[in-house]
Amino acid sequence: MVDQVTLFEVGPRDGLQNEPRQIATENKIDLVNALSEAGLKKIEVSSFVSPKWVPQLADAAEVFAGIERKDDTVYSALVPNMRGCEAAIAAGADEVAIFASASETFSQRNINCSIAKSMDRFAPVLEFAKDCSLPVRGYVSCVTDCPYEGSVSPNAVAMVTEHLLEMGCYEVSLGDTVGRGSPTSVRAMLDAVLSIVPANCLAGHFHDTGGRALENIQECLEKGIRVFDTSIGGLGGCPYAPGASGNVATETVVQWFEQQKIETHIDHSKLIELLRDVLGTQGLAGDCE
Ligand code: HMG
Ligand code: MG
Repeated sequence: MVDQVTLFEVGPRDGLQNEPRQIATENKIDLVNALSEAGLKKIEVSSFVSPKWVPQLADAAEVFAGIERKDDTVYSALVPNMRGCEAAIAAGADEVAIFASASETFSQRNINCSIAKSMDRFAPVLEFAKDCSLPVRGYVSCVTDCPYEGSVSPNAVAMVTEHLLEMGCYEVSLGDTVGRGSPTSVRAMLDAVLSIVPANCLAGHFHDTGGRALENIQECLEKGIRVFDTSIGGLGGCPYAPGASGNVATETVVQWFEQQKIETHIDHSKLIELLRDVLGTQGLAGDCE
């Protein structure tokens, strides 16, 4: 029986990286503060990537500088290389996340290099992080489908996941980048991954384009995965995954777990207030309230 799960809030990064409008730095800070007030203990605050590639998050250091930190909350940053890692540490990130892909074409479009080359870029990040005891999370994108290549082989996902864990990531988040995964394709992918790595090193990261994210989370739960990435208000997508919508909404997932008597330690009513008072005032809450 499942008693509790951990939600990893990725809205301020995965959500806001895809916003066509520039969101003011102070509004991003308010969002992160409201999320930690609501009980989210893991928050991906921003990314330290090239501002030419993702101008929406060019103020990552300012956002980190402005947030009110809670001692029991982990404030994380996405980084593509050593330069990003150094900037994240200087800004005060508690951990960093590196991001690889199971699809060659997506790797090229997203980070301008092959999967093998991306591992070369991540190796020094992991060595450096080890020296300064900085936890590193890994992502694998396109775990069932790629926006450019279609279906992705479960074995390709398993190999990239294993590689990231061997290099020193404490956890790998399996990303359904375009939200086309179904319980059948997610199960096949998990069978391949779990044949070589344990469930307690994995997380599920489901975009909800096809409306099946909750069913896919259910598949993960049945296979022993207990960490799920969510985005407040269902914000987001990926600028390099055309047509992908936001991650499954945090408030939807919290309510869904509550109905199953699975503890998230997140206050649903505070999430609803946040949607109204922080996202709603910026026109970001859409029809999620
Ligand atoms: P590049 O153009 O191949 O390499 O970019 P470069 O080394 O020539 O760098 C280009 C420019 O960026 C240079 O500036 C560098 O200095 C600068 P210039 O000389 O032209 O003025 N630069 C940086 N600036 C700030 N911070 C840095 C940094 N690194 C280089 N860290 C690179 C390669 C990886 C940098 C680029 O492709 C990039 O930034 N890509 C990021 C793409 C991205 O953020 N995508 C969205 C996140 S992934 C995602 O959403 C999926 C996920 O949610 C899981 C899922 O859903 O599947 C995680
Ligand atoms: Mg994502």
